[in-house]
Amino acid sequence: MSGRSHKDKKKSANALWGGRFDAAPGAVMEEINASIDFDRKLFAQDIAGSKAHCAMLMAQGIIPADDGNAILAGLDTILGEMESGDFAFDRALEDIHMNVEARLNELVGEAAGRLHTARSRNDQVATDLKIWVRDALDGLDGAAQDLQSALIDQAESHAAAVMPGFTHLQTAQPVTLGHHLLAYVEMVGRDRSRMADCRRRLNECPLGAAALAGTAFPIDREATASALGFDGPAANSLDAVSDRDFVVEFLGLGAILAVHMSRLAEEIVLWCSEPFAFARLSDAFSTGSSMMPQKRNPDAAELVRAKCGRVIGALTGLLVVLKGLPLAYAKDLQEDKEPVFQVADTLALGLAALTGMIADITFNAERMKDAAGRGQATATDLADWLVRVLGMPFRRAHRVTGALVRRADEKGCALDQLDLADMQAEEAAITAEVFDVLGVENSVNSRASFGGTAPANVRRAAVEARRRFL
Ligand code: ARG
Repeated sequence: MSGRSHKDKKKSANALWGGRFDAAPGAVMEEINASIDFDRKLFAQDIAGSKAHCAMLMAQGIIPADDGNAILAGLDTILGEMESGDFAFDRALEDIHMNVEARLNELVGEAAGRLHTARSRNDQVATDLKIWVRDALDGLDGAAQDLQSALIDQAESHAAAVMPGFTHLQTAQPVTLGHHLLAYVEMVGRDRSRMADCRRRLNECPLGAAALAGTAFPIDREATASALGFDGPAANSLDAVSDRDFVVEFLGLGAILAVHMSRLAEEIVLWCSEPFAFARLSDAFSTGSSMMPQKRNPDAAELVRAKCGRVIGALTGLLVVLKGLPLAYAKDLQEDKEPVFQVADTLALGLAALTGMIADITFNAERMKDAAGRGQATATDLADWLVRVLGMPFRRAHRVTGALVRRADEKGCALDQLDLADMQAEEAAITAEVFDVLGVENSVNSRASFGGTAPANVRRAAVEARRRFL
């Protein structure tokens, strides 16, 4: 831009949007291109990667030992500066990799220029992000485990508490609250196993793939891979720099986890509503209304439910970024980081909020049991009794029971409040013993098949869940 005045440059800026820019392409270019505002989050992983690379270059005799040692010391200094918040990140230097390298140059001089031998930012950034995702998975796994622990504690305390089980959100059969809560422990267990899968599969090191084709230097990729905790080097250099499957898997498992969290959050919202009144959130997780003094709103649960949207959006967004990319690296791939960071934060916050809510939610066991007794929830128990005791085919038992439900509804009472005479009017062979199976407690006690809702099962399942997950 030699010789042109500031004014001239301004003139050349786009008339519609150029007002905020000094020069047309330069400033816009920096703004669209720079990733330092978000990829600075990778600083610790970037420095670890550089140290491993430097040590390998020294060991292979590719760079002199004294330069290598100066680089290693400089990298430690930079790490300290970044950890303490003293580092002056510069947008003009585009990204974390160039910010580190430029500072290294200030600290150790020309020798710094040897660090980038036999590598590219392409293998560097893929390596950094893999390490970051690996660390994030470890943190999330612990947070998911905390949620399971809170759920198992509540399940054990409410192993025998009866509540209505729903299908179609219509009262279906009585279940135990403990059983209901343990269902979420299973879901989160699968989420954790997806995390472990993702972690295992991503653990191949891209470093040394260089820009895309590998390098002519005699590098030792096994050494850098193992120094960085990888199982080994990624096999194909083109794939190594362009693969973002691990990011998609992270966002994908995150989306499934977020859906599970949203479903549990929705149950909390329902249970805490006045018509249900099954549960009450602690003050710590309730908010008031600025207008209606009686309100206790479950905002945290609603937000956990809502934030699921961003996670699914992040997954969709990245899949769209990737779908048309030819091999190998393209700058599009820089768009992988913000969704990862945002999803990791969203999941961590949501898990902490859910864990807190579950840990100190209180249940109204009487109200739940009362609700379980409504809606003729033991109709299946009656039909099963007709099959078991009278030897009826199930289809006929279903019909007879349906007629009895209708009778009870007409009388405005529950099945167990019908007279024996009413029962016998539909099926003469019914005896008074039938009333034993019509109470909600009898109903749940009888469902002792493997995986069923009986309190004894729930107690056993809670012990098992502790062994499997905690
Ligand atoms: N900031 C870039 C990214 O996140 C680093 C890699 C840049 N490589 C390149 N050849 N321009 O993807």
